[in-house]
Amino acid sequence: MIKERVLTGDRVTGKLHLGHYVGSLSNRVALQNKYETFVLLADVQALTTHFDKKELIRRHLRDITLDYLSVGIHPDRTTIFVQSMVPEIAELTVLFSMFVTVNSLRHNPTIKAESKSAGLDDMYYGFLGYPVSQTADIAFCKASIVPVGDDQLPHLELSRKIVRRFNELYQPILVEPKPLVGDMPRLVGTDGSAKMSKSLGNAIELDSTTEEIAFKIRRAKTDPARVHKQDPGHPDICPIYAYHRAFRPQESAEIREGCERGSLGCSACKQLITQAVEQLIEPMRERRAYYASRPKAVDEILMTGTNRAREIARETMREVREAMCLNYFD
Ligand code: TRP
Repeated sequence: MIKERVLTGDRVTGKLHLGHYVGSLSNRVALQNKYETFVLLADVQALTTHFDKKELIRRHLRDITLDYLSVGIHPDRTTIFVQSMVPEIAELTVLFSMFVTVNSLRHNPTIKAESKSAGLDDMYYGFLGYPVSQTADIAFCKASIVPVGDDQLPHLELSRKIVRRFNELYQPILVEPKPLVGDMPRLVGTDGSAKMSKSLGNAIELDSTTEEIAFKIRRAKTDPARVHKQDPGHPDICPIYAYHRAFRPQESAEIREGCERGSLGCSACKQLITQAVEQLIEPMRERRAYYASRPKAVDEILMTGTNRAREIARETMREVREAMCLNYFD
């Protein structure tokens, strides 16, 4: 039986952190045992906002690959590949762009929110079109399952439309992808803001040392109502409690009770979560050290994955060209 394909990816804009682990990486490790899994390093998509930061993208490509390998994404089970090195994705993007309207992109809520937060009143062409290029990322390998965060749902909706339209206009050769949204709530930052994010400076990176973990958790915000240990706390507004729920789910009811009753102090509560995060990251650190000391092997993993993706992309493009009557000399 042919396994269904899963494709997902990350923009190459920074190292990955605990928020990524909870929201997507842990799930990818599970999915790779069940499906044929592809993970794409979206360096071209990173350029849509970081086109003037080429060195940053170059550096983070290796960092993120180490993040993947350290959490247990296994190169024998997951095809890890570089977007810009599969030119068929760019080719497919151009062909799709012929039947995608500008308004369908301008009215996309995620595009709107992202361009607003960038403070631009005009938009770069590549940025406006990145959901089209993302559709090509998915369609070239005919992935049917796309694990994403909920901010990506409008893009997946568009991807489904593009694939349907292609199949109607030409030939039914592409696969309509379904989004797979994880059930974990988004991990809050150490400052309590809604999202853990490197750019907000509230993230615990996956390559953190023991000291960095302890330091960041010690400095993390807690419920401001708790001046003294006996003061009753409000766990639902405390990032530390959110971490207990994510990383010590079995004990979180006990933590809630201790906090609300004022019997568990913030510093003891923080110590427990520091230990849990350390226990999670410790094995990652070992795998990271293994691969970090073998940079050639890491490059080999990327090249092998990219070659494999490219072979599939070439075959899909052959079908696409035929379906669109662009195969003049066959
Ligand atoms: N835009 C996605 C994000 O920011 C990353 C991405 C690029 C992606 N291409 C993809 C995700 C294809 C899923 C499928 O998270």
